[in-house]
Amino acid sequence: MTVQRVLTGITTSGTPHLGNYAGAIRPAIAASRHPGVESFYFLADYHALIKTTDPLRVQRSTLEIAATWLAAGLDTDRVWFYRQSDIPEIPELAWLLTCIAGKGLLNRAHAYKAAVDKNTAEGLDPDAGVNMGLYMYPVLMAADILMFKAHSVPVGRDQIQHIEMARDIAGSFNHLYGEHFVLPEAAIDASVATLPGLDGRKMSKSYDNTIPLFAPTAELRKLVFSIVTDSRAPGEPKDADGSALFELYQAFSRPEEARAMRTAFEEGIAWGEAKQALFDKIEATVAPMRARYEELIADPAQIEKHLLEGAAKARAIATPFIAELRHAVGLRRLTTMAQPAKAAKAKATTQPQFKQYREGDGRFHFKLVAADGATLVVSEGFATPREAGALVTYLKQGGEFEVAGDGVFVSGERVAALVGGCAATGLRAALASFAE
Ligand code: TRP
Repeated sequence: MTVQRVLTGITTSGTPHLGNYAGAIRPAIAASRHPGVESFYFLADYHALIKTTDPLRVQRSTLEIAATWLAAGLDTDRVWFYRQSDIPEIPELAWLLTCIAGKGLLNRAHAYKAAVDKNTAEGLDPDAGVNMGLYMYPVLMAADILMFKAHSVPVGRDQIQHIEMARDIAGSFNHLYGEHFVLPEAAIDASVATLPGLDGRKMSKSYDNTIPLFAPTAELRKLVFSIVTDSRAPGEPKDADGSALFELYQAFSRPEEARAMRTAFEEGIAWGEAKQALFDKIEATVAPMRARYEELIADPAQIEKHLLEGAAKARAIATPFIAELRHAVGLRRLTTMAQPAKAAKAKATTQPQFKQYREGDGRFHFKLVAADGATLVVSEGFATPREAGALVTYLKQGGEFEVAGDGVFVSGERVAALVGGCAATGLRAALASFAE
């Protein structure tokens, strides 16, 4: 059996909540117990610096998230469990990747774009309040992933684009310097729910609607009872689908218990009663871990020891690998003179390229990437890879199309969009290179 490497990180900028536990930590710990899997779970504290400049918050969050992994049953002998900032090879790799990542690629990162859009809507300078950390976030994340040759990266849907970018960057590096990196894939587990928060939107610190995983019992109860419900009275049938209360219940109960609760909803269970049942379920899951969590929080030295051991284990991989990569890019001892790089490879990188990929919605797309890495065109979604491929071939072979606004049309049908300021002339010039 080939070993599957799984890697994921949590940014240390907040207090772990039920959503982190059910959506990331619990499934990651379960996965780490499978044979044939090597798990790399880490605390993304360099990433935290992008979000906050409060040192105590970063430190406290690191303590809490580390304690949570341990209290939830992570077996540190089995996995690689470490703190990102204990691995200096990661920021070093991030620089090597920075030097080949297209600026155009990073311009299109969702988080950066969202900040720019918000500023623009508010009439501010597009980059107001945007630090370079936010801009480079995907490159640091690529370094996290590529350093350990992860095959699979379990993340939420909002992170899929980052994994795609890590793949892109890894592909460019391999192309330039030889096959050093594994191309990672995002793993989205459909059976793992994204938990709703108190107001029904996704549970997230940014919405201020979270339930802290280790809130004391009384506070947990209070929070559960504050979950927003509609005004249906006891006895009135209630819809389990779309109910935040029900979704939370489902995440903390066995399938048959969830089915029974669904029936209770149909039969008009009172909201108060449903909330009590939810509270009981969460408390039953959390209480045993909470005791261990509190013990750990009270003894940071114990956590620190786990992290330092994890760092040594991770660096046993990272140190030789960064040496290999340094050599590959030419950061070499002068006593080891090598042959000049092949000219053919350098030339190949100056060509535009079509890249096909699949989006989270299951549809097949392609994009046309310019020689400098900037994306020129992104296609509409197609039901099959063949349809997307046929259109790529058509365009490569000089097939006719029209451009109107940002749309690219073939036989009157919109097939793609121009992006990143690409104009019709830019597209025609890029396509001309395929005809040569
Ligand atoms: N960006 C991730 C988040 O906010 C955290 C993260 C950092 C990560 N580096 C990673 C996740 C590498 C997976 C792999 O959720």
